[in-house]
Amino acid sequence: MTDNSKPRVFSGIQPTGKKTLGNYSGGFRQYVQTQATGDAFFCIVDLHSITVDYDPADLRESTLDLAALLFATGLDSEKSTVFAQSHVSAHAEAAWLLSAVTSYGQLGRMTQFKDKSEGREFISAGLFTYPVLMAGDILLYQTDLVPIGDDQRQHLELARDVAERFNFRFGETFRVPSGVFPEVGGRIMDLQEPTKKMSTTLSSEQGAVYITDTPDAIRKKFKSAVTDSERGVRYDPEAKAGVSNLLEIMSVATGRSIDDLQAEFGDAGYGTFKEAVGESVVELLAPIRERFEALRADERELQRLLAVGAEKARRVADPTLEQMYDRMGFAKATAGRLFGAARPRGL
Ligand code: AMP
Ligand code: TRP
Repeated sequence: MTDNSKPRVFSGIQPTGKKTLGNYSGGFRQYVQTQATGDAFFCIVDLHSITVDYDPADLRESTLDLAALLFATGLDSEKSTVFAQSHVSAHAEAAWLLSAVTSYGQLGRMTQFKDKSEGREFISAGLFTYPVLMAGDILLYQTDLVPIGDDQRQHLELARDVAERFNFRFGETFRVPSGVFPEVGGRIMDLQEPTKKMSTTLSSEQGAVYITDTPDAIRKKFKSAVTDSERGVRYDPEAKAGVSNLLEIMSVATGRSIDDLQAEFGDAGYGTFKEAVGESVVELLAPIRERFEALRADERELQRLLAVGAEKARRVADPTLEQMYDRMGFAKATAGRLFGAARPRGL
């Protein structure tokens, strides 16, 4: 059942690639916060993962890894709908229909496309049209709020444009969604190269902290984090410097304000400060890692939870898709209806 008094929340996260502290800050952490206030859907976007080179056997495993991680970071299957994108066929269909109202020029301006295609020998068409699939994900659920990190701003803007263009061209069909971004930690930077965002694909092993890293690995990474040529523990986000990034990380890990942390560490040496940041991240991630290991061990249960999630997701997405076909002028498949059968979906 949908609850109309609560805002509809939707977000997606890719299963492939090890999930980082950046994902925690812009993704997982916000999912749990919004779960409490909304009617929430969280989608493992496996269809997005095939747009760059990947291994099919790995995709299957990492889909279950991510399901376990979503529950380990605090999602509750009773409160939120957690499901895999490929289990709900409306997503792939919506992407095709929405490509009719997506601008080729706007897709070409997406910075993520430029970053991910740079230097590659083979660039898939899917990497280019990826934001259309994402727009469909969001719009199918009549979403109000989309919790995401800063790097997804441009994609969300495109989803809003697509919704408005569709509504204008074919009649009011979609809600126009808004993004929810963290006040602090919307873009966690690489520990070794603080001018680049922390990312599974683009960061080095030392530059990225993974959610399932061991405490020792985490301590080591923070010890060697770059703070060069800065003066003391001062927050200056414009400088895109290592120290400001570490302050943001510690604020995310402890829930304390940046001001509070500056007051404590303003006169401390970098060594002491980096050690404290590392310890705060160990404290944050150690219990998550433990819960992850326990949940991941029970594959059947994860599969069951995903099946339940997909069923709930279909009940919301399918009527929107039906409406899209209808508004766009497709002839109705009436035979099934005459005989009382539902449209076969997700078979
Ligand atoms: P992805 O793993 O690319 O599917 O991203 C999942 C979520 O994590 C998205 O909402 C991203 O915006 C967010 N995210 C990814 N990297 C970072 C980062 N370095 N800092 C903050 N949020 C991030
Ligand atoms: N493109 C997003 C990312 O790489 C993942 C995503 C796919 C998403 N569909 C979405 C995020 C819908 C929010 C809503 O991080």
